[in-house]
Amino acid sequence: MSEDRTATPPFNPLDAAHLNDPDGPLAVARTRCPVSFPRPNLASVVTDEDVRYVLSRPEVYSNRGNFAIDGELELPAQLITMIDPPEHTELRGRLLRWFAPPRLRALRPEVERIVDKAMAGLPASGEVDLYESFVRAVPASVVFAFIGLPEHLWRDLEDWTDVINETMPEPLIDLPEMGNMIQAITEVVDRRRAGPPELRDVIDGLLHPQSGEQELSNVAAVTHIMQLILAATDTTRSLILNTVYSLLATDQWQTLARDRSKVANAVEESLRLDTPLQFVLRTAVREDTIGDTVIPAETKVLISLQSGNRDEQSWGPDAEEFRLDRDAASAHLAFGRGIHTCIGAPLARLESVCALNALLDAYPRMSLSDSYQWEKVRAPMMRRPKNLLVVLG
Ligand code: HEM
Repeated sequence: MSEDRTATPPFNPLDAAHLNDPDGPLAVARTRCPVSFPRPNLASVVTDEDVRYVLSRPEVYSNRGNFAIDGELELPAQLITMIDPPEHTELRGRLLRWFAPPRLRALRPEVERIVDKAMAGLPASGEVDLYESFVRAVPASVVFAFIGLPEHLWRDLEDWTDVINETMPEPLIDLPEMGNMIQAITEVVDRRRAGPPELRDVIDGLLHPQSGEQELSNVAAVTHIMQLILAATDTTRSLILNTVYSLLATDQWQTLARDRSKVANAVEESLRLDTPLQFVLRTAVREDTIGDTVIPAETKVLISLQSGNRDEQSWGPDAEEFRLDRDAASAHLAFGRGIHTCIGAPLARLESVCALNALLDAYPRMSLSDSYQWEKVRAPMMRRPKNLLVVLG
């Protein structure tokens, strides 16, 4: 089906109402107008096939300008999600080392300690906001530990991260929390630069290049650390929160509490149905054609991971349902595809499974509070409720 550049696009990412409640408009877009132009230099792709097509062609669809529908984010150094090969290839290789299975296995006891500590703050029964009282702390602490940031900074870093997450994609440059965070991480990096060249954690990996790798400035190291923090926190919180919500809302919490063999599947199905990072952006470096639609050079392309993940052509007529027994649920696009596929996916899965099991152990009869109303968080790229009121059991 070809696009109509004169018609109002069924899904318009420039319309706050569509970003806030995208499923209806996206469903119409998938059937009526899979490639649309909300404005002349901005295209939006919504089918599973087209999303995979764009993400697997980095030579045509560049990552420059990613994460900003308008223009580019002003940053002191280039982020991994905004650069193309060959710079991207080297930086990704350098970071990937820290996500290798033996490293993540070694991190597991620390993840369990962090989850246990968060669980200890929950009462035995009664009504709580599960976001504020449990979910908020876990992914932030895990990524701080993973990077190698000292524990006495975690509380402040978490608060600053939240303000930055809520502000994006508005400019961050004058935000006091941004300044505080840069300063605190810079002090850690300066101290570690002066220390012995060991390879204990991500900070060492950034500061001490291995053979064939480039020396990174402290500014670049701080920027990459901040990117890891921002990439890891609200995304993984969304995953844990959305999974608990879907299980409770579909009355499958108690089933899962009795049969844990489906916990990993619940996480994958949640990633598919409620994709934490709703979309990513690319810029066409030359003219291309998607289906029978011409994409002119320099067009920014908004790629709806959320829509691809609910595409009935790929997922069947029950694509909108949360099913614990869905086959191949992990084939979703929530972690992206191609050369920029999320490197933190194994860590996000590890901590989500760990957090869910801890909640299922302690509160097998948890339920949604009668007064609870799902309301989307303000951040336009994210999908999760602001809070989650539950009765613990
Ligand atoms: C549920 C949790 C998460 C989700 C849904 C998620 C989603 C994504 C997506 C969609 C991308 C691709 C971006 C693009 O193509 O433009 C990405 C990339 C990335 N993610 Fe995640 N992420 C999650 C957790 C994490 C964690 C825990 C970390 C780190 C500890 C992390 C670090 C990164 C990094 C560094 C990239 C850039 C990779 C590259 O450009 O080569 N993410 N993530």
